[in-house]
Amino acid sequence: MISTPYIYRANIAHFPKVSTSPKDDLIYQKDGGLVVKGDKIIALGEYAAIKAAYPDAVTIDYSNKLIVPGLIDGHVHFPQTEMIASYGEQLLTWLEQYTFPTECKFSSFDYCQKMADIFLSQLVANGTTTALAFSTVHSHSADALFAAASKRNMAMITGKVCMDRHCPNELSDSAESAVSDSEALIKKWHGLGRNLYAITPRFAPTSTDAQLNALGELAADYPDVFIQTHLSENLEEIEWVKQLFPARKSYLDVYAHFGLLRKRAVFGHCVHMTDDDWQSLADAGATAAFCPSSNLFLGSGFFDKANADKFNVNIALASDVGAGTSFNLLRTYGEAYKISQINGAPIDALNGLYMMTQGAAAALDLEADIGNLNPNSFADFVVLDPHFNDLSTLRIDANAECADILFALSILGDERCIKQTYIAGVAQLGTTNSHKESVN
Ligand code: GUN
Ligand code: ZN
Repeated sequence: MISTPYIYRANIAHFPKVSTSPKDDLIYQKDGGLVVKGDKIIALGEYAAIKAAYPDAVTIDYSNKLIVPGLIDGHVHFPQTEMIASYGEQLLTWLEQYTFPTECKFSSFDYCQKMADIFLSQLVANGTTTALAFSTVHSHSADALFAAASKRNMAMITGKVCMDRHCPNELSDSAESAVSDSEALIKKWHGLGRNLYAITPRFAPTSTDAQLNALGELAADYPDVFIQTHLSENLEEIEWVKQLFPARKSYLDVYAHFGLLRKRAVFGHCVHMTDDDWQSLADAGATAAFCPSSNLFLGSGFFDKANADKFNVNIALASDVGAGTSFNLLRTYGEAYKISQINGAPIDALNGLYMMTQGAAAALDLEADIGNLNPNSFADFVVLDPHFNDLSTLRIDANAECADILFALSILGDERCIKQTYIAGVAQLGTTNSHKESVN
C-alpha cells in the first residue's frame, strides 16, 4: 500500500541521541516540518526546505504549537486508575486499604477490558504513548491491556503481578503459577506487534524466596524481557524487607541475589538509596523510575536525582498512578522540579523532557524505536499548545524559548495543553478526522 506522507508543521523539539547534558543535545527546530509516512518518521527539518523536498506531502498545520516525542511513563499501575486520590495513608496501609481491594475487582475479565480502555484514554489524553505498566495478579488483566494497546498500535510494556504472600488470598499466586502464567504471557505477547512483556514481582515483601528465585530463572531464560518492581520507597517497607531477608545486605541485594537486577530491569521509587545501591544499579545498566508526585502523595521521601546522575544511573520519569496524582508527565516533571528545589539542585525543563522521552527510551533500551523524532522511529509524538488557556497565554510569550514553554506548561498544564497525540502516525484524540480538518 502506498501511503501519502504528511508534514506536521510546528516548532519541534527532541533529543536525537543519548545525552548526559540535555541542554546541549536538544534539537529545536522553529517553524519545522516533521515528515511521517505510514507509521514511521522519515524526516525532520525547517518547514520550507522540507516542503520543497516533499512537494506531494500533505501539510498538517500546527504553527505556533510545539511538537515533542510521545511521552514515556516508566512506572504506572493500570488497575489503580480508579483509586487515584485516595486519602490519608502511607505505603503499607495504603496498599491494604485501597490497592488490594481495588485490584480484587480485576478477577473479572470484562472489568479488566473496561478499565484498560479507560487507562489508555487517560494516557493519550496526557500525551503518553508508551507505558511500563503493572497489571494485576490475574493473567487476563495483562491480556486485556495488551489487547487494548494493540488496537491503538501502541508500544505497551506490561506484565501480570506476581505475589505469593502478604496479600489477600484472592490476589495470591504461587512460585510455580507465577512462572507458568508469566511464561505463557511472554510467549503470547512479547514482540507481538509493539507489545513487550515485563516480569513483575510486586515488591520483595509480597514474594517468597521461592517465587523470587523462580522469577529470576525465568528472567535468565528471556534476557530481552523487562523486569519491573518497587525498591526502597518507604522507611517502614525497608525495615520489613530487612526482617524478611536477613541474609541480604540491602533491599536491592534481594533482587540482585535472585537474578532480577539487570538491563531492562526498572525499579520504581529508589527514594532511600545508599551510594552502593546507586553503583549497583549503574553497573547492571538497570533503571530507576522517578515518581515524584507519588513520593509526595504517600509521604515516602525525596528522590535524589543529583546523586543518581553522579553514578550515571538510567532514569525514567514516572506517574505511578494511583499513588501518583496525575497521568500527565509534564506535570509530573513539575513535581520533580519542586522536590529538586528542596534539595537545592533544580532540575531544568530540558532534563525533564529528556527523562520522559529519549532518556526513558534509552533506559528501556528502546531508543531505536521511540523517545525521539529520528528517521525510522515510530511516529509517536505529541502536539502541545502553549496557549491552551488564559493564564498560559498570559505567561508564555509568542517568542518564548523551548525550555521556558516546557517549564511553564509543566507547572500550569494539564491535559488541555495536549492538542493532539499521535501513535504510529494516527491521531488519538477527538472523533473528527484531524488530518482533514487542518489540511493546507
Ligand atoms: N509497592 C508495592 N506495591 C506498590 C504499589 O502498588 N504502589 C506503590 N507506590 N508502591 C508499591
Ligand atoms: Zn508502583
